[in-house]
Amino acid sequence: MKREPYYITTPIYYPSGNWHIGHCYTTVICDALARFHRMLGEDVFFLTGTDEHGQKVEKEAKERGVTPLQFIDPLVDELKSMWSLLDVSYSRFIRTTDEDHIACVQKIYQKLYESGDIYKSEYSGYYCTPCESMWTEAQLKDGKCPDCGREVTLQKEESYFFRLSKYAPRILKLYEDNPEFLQPKSRVNEMVNNFLKAGLQDLCVSRTTVKWGVQLPFDKNHYSYVWIDALSNYLSALGYLSSDDSLFKKYWPANLHMVGKEIVRFHAVIWPAILMALGLEPPKQVYGHGWLLIGGDKLSKSKQDAIKYELTDPYELVKRYGSDAVRYFLLREIPFGSDGEYTNERLLLRINADLANDLGNLVSRTCAMIGQSFSGTLPACGKSEEVDLALEEAANGLFEKVKGAMDRLNAPDALGEIFSVVSKANKYIDETAPWLLAKDESKRDRLATVLYHLAEVCRICAVMLKPFLTKASCLILRSFSCDENEGFEHVSFGALKAGAKVEKLPPIFPRIDVKKELAEVEKLVKERKAKEKKQATPAKQAPAQAEAKGEISIDDFAKIELKVGTVIACEKVAKSEKLLHETVKIGDETRSVVSGIAKYYTPEEMVGKNVVLVTNLKPVKLCGVLSEGMILCAEDENGVLSLLTPEKEMGSGANIR
Ligand code: MSP
Repeated sequence: MKREPYYITTPIYYPSGNWHIGHCYTTVICDALARFHRMLGEDVFFLTGTDEHGQKVEKEAKERGVTPLQFIDPLVDELKSMWSLLDVSYSRFIRTTDEDHIACVQKIYQKLYESGDIYKSEYSGYYCTPCESMWTEAQLKDGKCPDCGREVTLQKEESYFFRLSKYAPRILKLYEDNPEFLQPKSRVNEMVNNFLKAGLQDLCVSRTTVKWGVQLPFDKNHYSYVWIDALSNYLSALGYLSSDDSLFKKYWPANLHMVGKEIVRFHAVIWPAILMALGLEPPKQVYGHGWLLIGGDKLSKSKQDAIKYELTDPYELVKRYGSDAVRYFLLREIPFGSDGEYTNERLLLRINADLANDLGNLVSRTCAMIGQSFSGTLPACGKSEEVDLALEEAANGLFEKVKGAMDRLNAPDALGEIFSVVSKANKYIDETAPWLLAKDESKRDRLATVLYHLAEVCRICAVMLKPFLTKASCLILRSFSCDENEGFEHVSFGALKAGAKVEKLPPIFPRIDVKKELAEVEKLVKERKAKEKKQATPAKQAPAQAEAKGEISIDDFAKIELKVGTVIACEKVAKSEKLLHETVKIGDETRSVVSGIAKYYTPEEMVGKNVVLVTNLKPVKLCGVLSEGMILCAEDENGVLSLLTPEKEMGSGANIR
């Protein structure tokens, strides 16, 4: 039987680092949807990745004296490890620097150019020579460069443009003919009133000054500029315009692009226009979800300082409470489509009320009672009474209710349905009082029936929870000797066989002392902030000057301070496969240095080594660790690194000239 294809995507993330729990929202929702559709037996392709090109990355890498990829790679590693911590089950992680993506983007540009949808014109803006950056009038600060504060000049730059204006009427028609295309409904009004009604402007899609992008095939001086490159990932990941486009044939049009509300315009206006120009169908749906707010604001890097004592670091949250609890909060707490508030307290209250009390208690009590009264073997179910039938009915209706909610993409409602059955089961325990039945030998059959009902409800709820709580659901299923890999084949009451082994479970969600935990979290966040302040880089320095290429003068060379240092401690950087964190003694001073040599040296090998360092580089943080210098290495044609070290024994702190 042919399995229905289901193609779901998240936006591709900017490799900005400093990830917070808000970043996890889109991806965790998509993961729950992908898992749900897999369990329905569909053939799911779930795409996520990183959006790596552009001026910002080019500039930041330059300021750090590294290539854009050297700058981005550790951040991409970090993001991937965050998804793995949160059990995100993507089918492909695409990077816009992947070769197949670049080849596809070039073909898309070529096609649009040949059809006349891309044409050459002029882009005018304000140019800052030292920063090599073009700004719009609105971006200027007091008429000066917003980055370095220096004078800018009005310049015209030759650029290519996409004929977006041509597509406004067709996009309006797309909304009219397909009310499901853009959801929730309020986003349609935003798009129509704020953009489409007034008509669309053609879109600048190339630059000559920003070279960290995809080179245009028909004009080598030009590089892709933002959205065509990024949006095309949804096609390039499927092999569109490549020699093997079988995935594209199978999965396009996408079932769902899930995006945050601030990027709806790009997905619901620009993207369908590009697809129309390519002669492709639009995605079936774009959903613009709300934001996770802290103190009323969308979490962002700059805002994080203002957040008092909320712990927002996904690594720390998963470490403290487990991935299921973090997933549960994201999927349950925020009314879908709207913004929702995040606080540590709300997270802890959810964990205690729903996971520890309701779900945890139900499962542990059920397993414990079967252990005590039936030596851990599931007894056969006797004749059902009214109270049992009501519970059976609730359990039997659960799948359809959850499916209905998930068809509306509404994970909070789906979880609400599951937890309403969990509550009913807890109430059923109170009503049937199995602890009393256990004391009376004549009620043994009744006890068996009650415990069978509870076990079945635990099993059905665990199956339904699999897309959401990836770990706890499997633990529960295993404790009832069920196959944790099953889909929704057996979601009606009565599938559990009497005689099955039932194992006792330790508490899956231990109860948290909220007051104590909040105090600890506050202490932790305070300490972190103080440390960050201490490590903060000196006042923003002027960006590196764009110096003449090629030869440098002896004065230029003298600007680089090189010294010998001794590595006195070394460890792996937790969130990266490539980085080592060294503590280096340079004369009387001790510095923290991060270097990308973990593939070639173990931390043990590094300790005691005399190395050569650049000591006057602007400090940076790599994977959250401060680096106050760069250890120099030789690199062969295969990229293998070898440390530079003085040929004779030299004391640490020796200058290099
Ligand atoms: N690179 C673009 C997307 C290009 S898609 C062709 C981008 N990246 S992003 O890193 O800024 O955002 C990635 C996703 O994270 C977006 O869906 C964004 O809405 C989401 N979130 C980032 N902060 C968020 C919250 N505080 N709350 C909820 N989601 C938010 O945009």
